[in-house]
Amino acid sequence: MENHSIDVNSAVQRITEKMDWVSERSKSKIPYKTVDGVHDDLSESDINWWTNGFWSGIQWLLYHETGNEKHAAIARSVEQKLDRCFEEFYGIHHDAGFMWLLSAAADYRLTGDLEARRRALHAANLLAGRFNPAGNFIRAWNGTDNSGWAIIDCMMNLALLYWASEETADPRYRQIAECHADTAARCFVRSDGSVRHIVIFDPESGEMIDDLGGQGYAKGSSWTRGQAWGIYGFTISWKHTQKELYLETVRKIADYFISQIPADSLIPVDFCQPETPHLEDSMAAAIAACGMIELSRELGEEGVPYLDAAKRMLAALLAKRCCWTKESDGILERCTAAYHNQEKETNIIYGDYFLIEAVFKLNGNDAFLW
Ligand code: GLY
Repeated sequence: MENHSIDVNSAVQRITEKMDWVSERSKSKIPYKTVDGVHDDLSESDINWWTNGFWSGIQWLLYHETGNEKHAAIARSVEQKLDRCFEEFYGIHHDAGFMWLLSAAADYRLTGDLEARRRALHAANLLAGRFNPAGNFIRAWNGTDNSGWAIIDCMMNLALLYWASEETADPRYRQIAECHADTAARCFVRSDGSVRHIVIFDPESGEMIDDLGGQGYAKGSSWTRGQAWGIYGFTISWKHTQKELYLETVRKIADYFISQIPADSLIPVDFCQPETPHLEDSMAAAIAACGMIELSRELGEEGVPYLDAAKRMLAALLAKRCCWTKESDGILERCTAAYHNQEKETNIIYGDYFLIEAVFKLNGNDAFLW
């Protein structure tokens, strides 16, 4: 097992220094990835893309860390651009959670802005409207043939519903989130602690009828980012509800994940992928690390193995997979969207988001936006 240590102060300094000039350079954009080292911009071309809240989320993390108003202004410009999704409506999917938690809800939580509160509640209502009461799940994507599809990633989107109930004292949002989380614990998590990516339900009867490998290697495999969404997502559900089932479930997934971490602590796209092509997903490592740090905070002494695993993965990323120079607008390298047919081993915006969140957590000064 390779052993890198983390100099948290230096990591925080590197992040704030790099993101200072990157924020200036990309202030009018909504980036998804870097192309030849330069952030692309989805503001005009794909306003409904599920990652469109992460640039704003990065800016709110930086605002919380540095107090620099320029970060709040950039975050707000994304929040305002996302209003087009509300106007057009048809493009909105379950990732309303990711999109508005890290934009409007973050704004309201950090500044008390009432326009931001209205936007975040609007998004929570749209997310709640995707609930299927026969199968007790939240529908993931739009389209004619997938009204019965749910995906493990949605565990992160539930945070918007927990926030809405806490904010309005109306339990319906939390109740929907719990119904979905109970279904996910039952239908997504296998007996060995690994999780499925996509589960298909009969949208009329609610019966589980199939599962798919989705962005992982194959049906029955173990897509690492899906495992990471499960770890962080069930931890979030536990934090908001204190329901034992969620703590048991996250420990099972996290124990499985830790048992699969390779000797170099760099995470593949799928724990079941073949030896070649060997593809990495640094984002899975950063997300799992965030989840494990939060889990360790919940468990006290018993949480130490989770904190240790998180630190090992982050140390490997910081030592080997980060770009701190002006060669790229991005930080985290070798981010892979899916094993087949999507971006591979490049820089993607939510990799940077979760790396920054994880480092700020280790520094003890993170804004918990979930
Ligand atoms: N759909 C979210 C992800 O690619 O992880």
